[in-house]
Amino acid sequence: MIARITGRLFASGRGLALPESSAPGEVLAQTSELVVRLGGREVLAGVSVAARAGEVLALVGPNGAGKSTLLAALAADLAADEGDVRVCGRAVARWPARELALRRAVLPQAASLSFPFAVEDVVRMGRAPWAGTAFEDDDDRAVREAMDATEVTEFAARPFSALSGGERARVALARVLAQRAPLLLLDEPTAALDLRHQELVLRICRERAAAGDAVVVVLHDLGLAAAYADRVAVLRGGALAAEGAPGEVFTGELLSEVYRQPVEVFPHPRTGAPLVTPVRG
Ligand SMILES: Nc1ncnc2c1ncn2[C@@H]1O[C@H](COP(=O)(O)OP(=O)(O)OP(=O)(O)O)[C@@H](O)[C@H]1O
Ligand SMILES: [Mg+2]
Repeated sequence: MIARITGRLFASGRGLALPESSAPGEVLAQTSELVVRLGGREVLAGVSVAARAGEVLALVGPNGAGKSTLLAALAADLAADEGDVRVCGRAVARWPARELALRRAVLPQAASLSFPFAVEDVVRMGRAPWAGTAFEDDDDRAVREAMDATEVTEFAARPFSALSGGERARVALARVLAQRAPLLLLDEPTAALDLRHQELVLRICRERAAAGDAVVVVLHDLGLAAAYADRVAVLRGGALAAEGAPGEVFTGELLSEVYRQPVEVFPHPRTGAPLVTPVRG
């Protein structure tokens, strides 16, 4: 049934420009002086970030800072009012939808999916862009591996709508992973997850980066960002407050100011990674 649906969506894979492999450090997506206005307000006010092959970039910052807007602009789900957004070297608006879908996979923040489908079929939807290409033969393996990686295989035959919130979030991620795009844009993939699965998801991000992908992930847990990201971009009020390695960017002073909440930062006694905690008591 899903094969028929995806086949209809993308009838022929002939003549498509498939993604090429990229060298570590190569910029797969970037914004330059990006301005986005929504409802008459400037939600992003000149933001420049780059997502590089082999790296995990975490977007952090308070509620309303513009993280989801930035991710949506990188995904070409939202148009720039000013500035430039590029994916694989080309302005996002100039990519045909399907060729863009072969290059970037997006996990939205509000995954309000209410598919009346079995879990495995939901994950298989991630394969739609590959229909009719030589890589269509990878569909079964890509679906299986994505389900294994996110630990949803045991739910494969169950209706998506009958899962818990965290289980659904993992299935939504599996669908994105099955797409096998070299640029992963994940908006709060860990928000609904338990401790084990938060770590699992960030390990997956690292694995994808090690395999050469560029991963951009929105996180609220600064400890997770510090432990797993190569670089962090801290957004505040639609602008970049800081960007760089977590060890350099995550200082008590900066985070206290950005979050308007006193915060302490300690080096982890074994790894040295920054541990971030609100000042209490
Ligand atoms: N359609 C819209 N019209 C007007 N304002 C909008 C619209 N969408 C978002 N905004 C505003 O843009 C700002 C940035 O929103 P965005 O969703 O990017 O924040 P965020 O950093 O992802 O926050 P959160 O951590 O809560 O997910 C917010 O102030 C929000 O109210
Ligand atoms: Mg958001």
